[in-house]
Amino acid sequence: MATVGRTETTDIAVHWKEEEYIQPPTTFVRQANLVDPAIVDRFREENFPDCFQEYAEMLAWDRTWDTVLDTSHPPFWKWFVGGRLNASYNCVDRHLARNKNKAALIFVPEAETEPTCTLTYQELFVRVNEVAAVLRDFCGLKSGDRVTIHMPMIPELPITMLACARLGVVHSVVFGGFSGEAAGLRAADSDSRVMIYADAYYRNGKLIDHKASADIAVRTAANEGLKVEKVLVWRRRDGQDLSNTPMVPGRDYYMEELLKGFRRVRVDPVSVDAEHPLFLMYTSGSTGKPKGCQHGTGGYLAYVTGTSKYYQDIHPEDVYWCMADIGWITGHSYIVYGPLSLGATTVLYEGVPTYPDAGRPWRIAEQLDVNIFHTSPTAIRMLRKAGPDEPAKYNYHFKHMTTVGEPIEPETWRWYHEVVGKREAAIVDTWWQTETGGFLITTKPAIDPMKAGSAGPAALGIFPVIFDEDGREIPAGAGRAGNLGIRNPWPSIMQTIWKDDERFVRQYYAKFCRDPKSTDWRDWPYFAADGAMLAADNYYRILGRVDDVINVAGHRLGTKEIESACLTVPQVAEAAVVPVVDEIKGRMPAIYASLKPGVTDGRQVSEQIVAAVETMIGKIARPKGVHIVPDLPKTRSGKIMRRILAAISNRMETGDVTTLANPEIVEQIRKQVQGEGPVELQEGPEDLKRFGEQE
Ligand code: WTA
Repeated sequence: MATVGRTETTDIAVHWKEEEYIQPPTTFVRQANLVDPAIVDRFREENFPDCFQEYAEMLAWDRTWDTVLDTSHPPFWKWFVGGRLNASYNCVDRHLARNKNKAALIFVPEAETEPTCTLTYQELFVRVNEVAAVLRDFCGLKSGDRVTIHMPMIPELPITMLACARLGVVHSVVFGGFSGEAAGLRAADSDSRVMIYADAYYRNGKLIDHKASADIAVRTAANEGLKVEKVLVWRRRDGQDLSNTPMVPGRDYYMEELLKGFRRVRVDPVSVDAEHPLFLMYTSGSTGKPKGCQHGTGGYLAYVTGTSKYYQDIHPEDVYWCMADIGWITGHSYIVYGPLSLGATTVLYEGVPTYPDAGRPWRIAEQLDVNIFHTSPTAIRMLRKAGPDEPAKYNYHFKHMTTVGEPIEPETWRWYHEVVGKREAAIVDTWWQTETGGFLITTKPAIDPMKAGSAGPAALGIFPVIFDEDGREIPAGAGRAGNLGIRNPWPSIMQTIWKDDERFVRQYYAKFCRDPKSTDWRDWPYFAADGAMLAADNYYRILGRVDDVINVAGHRLGTKEIESACLTVPQVAEAAVVPVVDEIKGRMPAIYASLKPGVTDGRQVSEQIVAAVETMIGKIARPKGVHIVPDLPKTRSGKIMRRILAAISNRMETGDVTTLANPEIVEQIRKQVQGEGPVELQEGPEDLKRFGEQE
């Protein structure tokens, strides 16, 4: 195999070129919420955990907390213990006195011919109350019950979430693009007697029949032993049936019709303990089964409110647009809870960023006068590829922009800064996770300079650390990558994995815990499962996952989940899923499968595999390639060597294969995937080199 040079573009970690500092514009600094550097002192380690009261004080509490942080049962940290509040009250009711006529939500439908729809805080209040009444009085839901919401990006999604929160009902929102199967499995895991759907939505110019997924979800849940009693269906368009899937009598109900019985009903917000769970968000981990990350009310809401104010720099007069989907944690924290808790105006866009063309986001920004814009590197790459000169054609001005969800290459960052931001905006690159609830690494936009490709320093009150494989700390500026950990608890850390405390401890704390008997938080660093490097200036550069999670377009997919889907195809004997670099989406899954004896039609099986993945998970998991191979490389103990397959898919060095049980298969697969001729090998990004290490 010929090794000729290496490609620079995919190579973030190894050739780490220090980027220049870029100072935030003075126009931004002059108006920013967080300008006084004294805040850094207030959030110093000796002031932990009391410093976080500053965030809690941004909320309205029914009863103030007695204890800021209770560490008596590690790592089940309890924040603002004794405090009582309601999240829906904080996001809606408390703004009425002064801002009832202000826009809370602006909904932008995908079709440009359909007008935008604005909901004031008063209108939001009325709708949240009426929906809460349906949930309480028609469905019989009460505080602590779970509800699975499988909905697209329409205003009824945040309305439904806030209605749940009003009752203390725990919502579990499943990303609308996930399949009915995926929603059904999550509903079963959380014991949701009620599921909430929309009949249809628009995506890339097409009308999607979403109600069809409801039937599949209910059937899937039944196979798992859960009877879903009621399915509530929002109509995408009042009074019109956009779905061809029939309603099941006695099970399915149109919200529109139910609401007729609850006009003008007001539902008192249920005061809950700070530690009462607010929601579950299922995310992929290292097993086939997604885990329900459980977030509490007080700590979570305090942290997302504080970070929305300080890092998103939201002011009352701003128009804030986060172009994520509410079905992911970014949408929960930074479309719904954070901005609404601050009484801001938050924009909801139904569709695809490039629909009908790559000028769409900039037209929306111009029309609504959006001044804070929040998106992912994948969306930036897509918009840049489809319309590099589009932003200049529109008269919008962002004071602040965010990039989140995946590492951003300095070159992409620069286009974002110069072309999208017109050099007028402060940019934050925020690192965090479903588990962390809010930003943990980011620049303070008016205080710290930006550095392309680096997320930045730790957020206030957060004390990260980089460990080598033996748990030794790698100091700043060492030029070595390691495992990112967080030394201290913070208010929006997930409380546990739903119904699985043991897995929670094992997954996030077992690796670095210094003393399982200790009740000192210092002995319990959180393991983030990301690789990172720390520069001499204390800026973190995130390299990507070190476990078997693939970050596709900023969305987390578990390789094991995709493998399970492949194995539902009867002809497949074994399957392995690995990440492969993609120019736009960052990473995509590639599938390697071997077939059962006697099966010859590999092409047909490939198609079945793709169909199975789309059915079991959703189109976002569609693989970049399916390779039907004679056998998978294995160790003598039978473990599939996914790292070697990842190396082949990404044209990286496969390393020593002589100790395998079947070393000859490696060259055979390599030729099949890369072709017979000499191949230019690449160094490859750090996460791919370490892929499968934590298995
Ligand atoms: C990745 C999304 C680089 C990381 C909020 C993490 C990032 C995973 C960044 C969590 C960033 C998130 N730079 N990588 N600014 N933000 N990630 O749970 O690998 O969907 O572990 O939460 O996204 O994805 P999740």
